[in-house]
Amino acid sequence: MSVEFDTSLHPETLTISHGYDPRTAFGAAKPPVFLTSTFVYESAQHAKDVHRAYFDGAEAPGGSPYIYSRLNHPNLDMVERRLSVLDRGEDAAVFSSGMAAISAVMLCFARPGETILHTKPTYGGTDGMLYGFMPQFGVTPFGVDDALSEASIQAAANQALASGPIALIMLESPANPTGTVVDIAAAARVADVIGQRTGRRPLVSVDNTFLGPFVQTPLALGADLCITSLTKYCGGHSDLLAGGVSGAKALVGVLKAQRTFFGSHLDPYSSWLLLRSFETLHLRTERAGENALKVATYLRDHPKIASVTYLGFAPKGSAAQAVMARQGRGFGSTFSFQIKGGEAEAFRMLDRLKVLRLAVSLGGSETLICHPATTTHYNVPIERRLEVGVGDGTLRVSVGIEHADDLIADLAQALDAV
Ligand SMILES: Cc1ncc(COP(=O)(O)O)c(C=O)c1O
Repeated sequence: MSVEFDTSLHPETLTISHGYDPRTAFGAAKPPVFLTSTFVYESAQHAKDVHRAYFDGAEAPGGSPYIYSRLNHPNLDMVERRLSVLDRGEDAAVFSSGMAAISAVMLCFARPGETILHTKPTYGGTDGMLYGFMPQFGVTPFGVDDALSEASIQAAANQALASGPIALIMLESPANPTGTVVDIAAAARVADVIGQRTGRRPLVSVDNTFLGPFVQTPLALGADLCITSLTKYCGGHSDLLAGGVSGAKALVGVLKAQRTFFGSHLDPYSSWLLLRSFETLHLRTERAGENALKVATYLRDHPKIASVTYLGFAPKGSAAQAVMARQGRGFGSTFSFQIKGGEAEAFRMLDRLKVLRLAVSLGGSETLICHPATTTHYNVPIERRLEVGVGDGTLRVSVGIEHADDLIADLAQALDAV
């Protein structure tokens, strides 16, 4: 299914139709779901030729290019094309979850004896991979304290290099759950310096989950890989799990080849759902962003709230504000806030909410709220949790697309109970 696209088109236009050509499906305006695990070859020679194309990179023969759905299938192709064009990558690999994408990046690009430099905090699952799993394979994680400062990233890199070559610089910006911002271009420059000094340039990946492609495009800022938990804003309805990695064809090709063995591709129906979700992503992003500003402003002015980490409130002249102005086209709609007191006060408020739903995850059409210390970051050791500002009174909210007045009224009545 070859799909050409007009590069002069805006992402809002491409997200409606790019990746699917109706001529390939009887003119169906919308793509069918290809619920099949395997594909019938046209002949024995055709079977051999499609295997040569898939495994050896030989030129694809005519006819169907598909073999078996764990390797590739039409809905996966469609959704990968759409994601890559939104992320401005040459290609994208789509996985069965964000963690499948993140773990594939670590396992494909880091080797025993190497280190992974990472920003702080990271999503709990990423932290678990870095500190609970990768060390068993001789890969050492190394945290950067202040990734808004190029000097600090370079200093951490110098320390990490003492333990072995740096395979990856993994950034998460804004970070879950604190909204901590990372200077992506500065990290890419540090990778260049390491490359010049050691002859091996680490790959720079950015977890873009908190903002998504309509707010931030890490590949355009110098990153090599853009990772997204598509479960969140891109899926957008809290009804599927998926993850994506965009970047240069050669790098994405490594991930796709390995995904065949991991068996972590996205299934046809979820791919179809995701393709459909992409069509409204820009509208949802915009509306949720407007609501988030209203909710964050309400919370900031509330006497029972100690602080709010909404990115739009970064003080003028601060490094975070300058970096966000450079690398983002908005502030997203997930942020955290500190309730005065601790766990007891936080729980009292949560248990009174009626419109906001108490659940982990983010980026859905509905507003979700959770207590990270006892949920998303349950497994993160307390000292590392406190170090990055996830205290017992920290709450994370993912603002949805409801009417903002209803969200604020619900928060108001719940805070009255504290
Ligand atoms: C920033 C971030 N990255 C990755 C993930 C993992 O994504 P998934 O749940 O789709 O595996 C999450 C999940 O919450 C996340 O918040």
